[in-house]
Amino acid sequence: MDNFETIEVNTDLLIVGGGMAACGAAVEASYWAKKNGLKVTLVDKAAMERSGAVAMGLSAINTYIGIKDGANSPEDFVKYVRNDQMGTVREDLVYDIARHVDSTVHLFEKWGLPIWKDEKGNYVHEGRWQIMINGESYKVIVAEAAKSALGMDNVYERVFIVNLLTDEKDPNKIAGAVGFSVRENKFYVFKAKAVMVAAGGAVHIFRPRSTGEGFGRAWYPPWNSGSSYATMLQVGAEMTQMESRFIPTRFKDGYGPVGAWFLLFKSRATNAFGEDYLQTQAEEIKKWEPYASAKPVPTPLRNHQMITELREGRGPVYMRTEEAIKKITDTTPGTDKDKKKRLKELDSEAWEDFLDMTITQAGLWASMNISPEEKPSEIMPSEPYFIGSHASCAGAWVSGPADIAPKEYTWGYNRMSTVQGLFTAGDGVGGNAHKFSSGSCTEGRIAGKEAIRFIKDHPEAPTIDPKKIDTLKEKTYKPLKTFEQYKTLSSDSNINPNYIKPKMFLFRLNKIMDEYVGGTSTWYTTNKPMLERGLELLAMLKEDSEKLGAENLHELMRAWENYHRLWTAEVHLRHVMFREETRYPGYLYRSDFPKIDEANWKVFVNSKWDPQTGNWQMSKKPVVKIIQ
Ligand code: FAD
Ligand code: ADX
Repeated sequence: MDNFETIEVNTDLLIVGGGMAACGAAVEASYWAKKNGLKVTLVDKAAMERSGAVAMGLSAINTYIGIKDGANSPEDFVKYVRNDQMGTVREDLVYDIARHVDSTVHLFEKWGLPIWKDEKGNYVHEGRWQIMINGESYKVIVAEAAKSALGMDNVYERVFIVNLLTDEKDPNKIAGAVGFSVRENKFYVFKAKAVMVAAGGAVHIFRPRSTGEGFGRAWYPPWNSGSSYATMLQVGAEMTQMESRFIPTRFKDGYGPVGAWFLLFKSRATNAFGEDYLQTQAEEIKKWEPYASAKPVPTPLRNHQMITELREGRGPVYMRTEEAIKKITDTTPGTDKDKKKRLKELDSEAWEDFLDMTITQAGLWASMNISPEEKPSEIMPSEPYFIGSHASCAGAWVSGPADIAPKEYTWGYNRMSTVQGLFTAGDGVGGNAHKFSSGSCTEGRIAGKEAIRFIKDHPEAPTIDPKKIDTLKEKTYKPLKTFEQYKTLSSDSNINPNYIKPKMFLFRLNKIMDEYVGGTSTWYTTNKPMLERGLELLAMLKEDSEKLGAENLHELMRAWENYHRLWTAEVHLRHVMFREETRYPGYLYRSDFPKIDEANWKVFVNSKWDPQTGNWQMSKKPVVKIIQ
């Protein structure tokens, strides 16, 4: 332990994460902090310019309401998200994003993000809610704004947060966080009056479709490893909708996005016989009325149509890129030259869509000799992900905006969890889907401002037992010690009777989740006995987590990532077990409860782990309809 220097940082607000939500929080909280003489500190496990889900950039901003142009109202957006998520969203939170998100998009533009414009100067829409951007440098631009608001002395990069700290005098009040540098022998203790956790969602909980040479290729960023969920759970924060995993339909193997093809290019996707599966499976989704009649059809139900098609043996399913491009070119007014020019534009738009946010897919197209104007491309439903900002709702149960939230959803500060002073945003907030990049940044701004208000009302310094810090430091570096102690007992450092390497641990976790909790190998299907067996196996994996071994600081990070994944896996399993219905077909099927049950299960499922007793508590919370 003497090799690892302890560095103590005292601050008022600590922001954990450096992604879209954290950057929004940094900008907004710094503004309000300056007015009140307070300090804001941000810690990211990576380098902010390229950290989180927007690392490769994006090609669209998926949440823009257009209130000023009269295009849509916040109420319209709530109705859209409510239907898409099969009736189960926190309407107060969705509405709050909708009324503020346009201002965040305008800030992005002010900071230098190029947004596509038509000849009249209006934003070019991909779909009703989505606008097109030249977004390769999106994250660089947003991170720069966050860094200049914070000041570089208040930014800690390449520091992985392992645990949150609670107050010695009040175990339900936040007091800071501890973490370690992934590059230097430095252990960090951040003491804070409020903490905003925005460490993204969770990837690689389930066995991915990518194997062997493709392993590590995933849709969501593999470095978002469930830290938001695990760290908040461990200090007793209540979670909601952790059964809501997201199954993105993606271009096969490269995980390229489908939105631009379906919405902007108006492409069809067809089965092996050239039939549109939305038509062949039109009857199938009627079992999930009233949601099946919604326009657009909810994301889980669209997935269900495709999955049913594949299960019934009519795969592969193809995105008909060649057909869509031909149709647009043919209907372009003007001469042959005009049509040719349009074809060239479409070709570059298609490639840019991938090059802006999923470069691997462009690489795959090139290596497979695919020209989208000539050949269709396979699409596929992928493995499950946890994320509160896309078409799914996993995250913490937070207090809503006081002016619109019903009493069941308010306890003081907007976006504060059930732990005093612990805020979250983006993928960390549950029940609030379809925020995407712009909504996550907006939610960060809301949470950041409210966290400063909390600090003004609660100015007392946190009290932390120094013995607790020593124990956490010991625990943090234990995998390095375990490896050193036993490394000579086997000739292959990956195999040893006394420790488990992070990669092996990951394989075991992935296998359990895939086989028992509804991964791709069972077409997302599970039942009570399978879940019970899965829980037994997870308990054994938890025992073995004590024996994680790490060869260096990089592997130490891998070890802690997997520990956070394990917690995310367990809370997910418990939620799936509790919800006795199939509410989100296309994401998850309970074979023992294959139908939707509006009478008993149109509710939120919440969970809480008690840090004092180690017991889990599951509950139902009401879904309150606010927008008629
Ligand atoms: P992130 O932006 O992922 O940030 C998480 C942060 O936490 C990162 O900085 C990470 O380094 C840090 N972190 C994680 N663990 C720790 C830890 N233990 N300690 C310290 N720091 C930690 N949205 C759109 O609007 N349009 C699109 O076209 C679009 N396309 C997408 C395409 C892809 C391939 C992906 C992956 C996402 C896409 N999204 C899109 C969604 C959007 O990127 C997310 O909604 C948004 O980034 C979520 O914000 P967040 O802050 O919650 O998480
Ligand atoms: S992204 O995060 O990688 O950009 P994706 O490409 O799936 O996601 O979707 C982009 C946007 O288009 C999202 O708002 C999504 O809900 C929407 N979308 C994608 N496909 C469809 C579809 N077939 N019908 C309606 N909306 C869709």
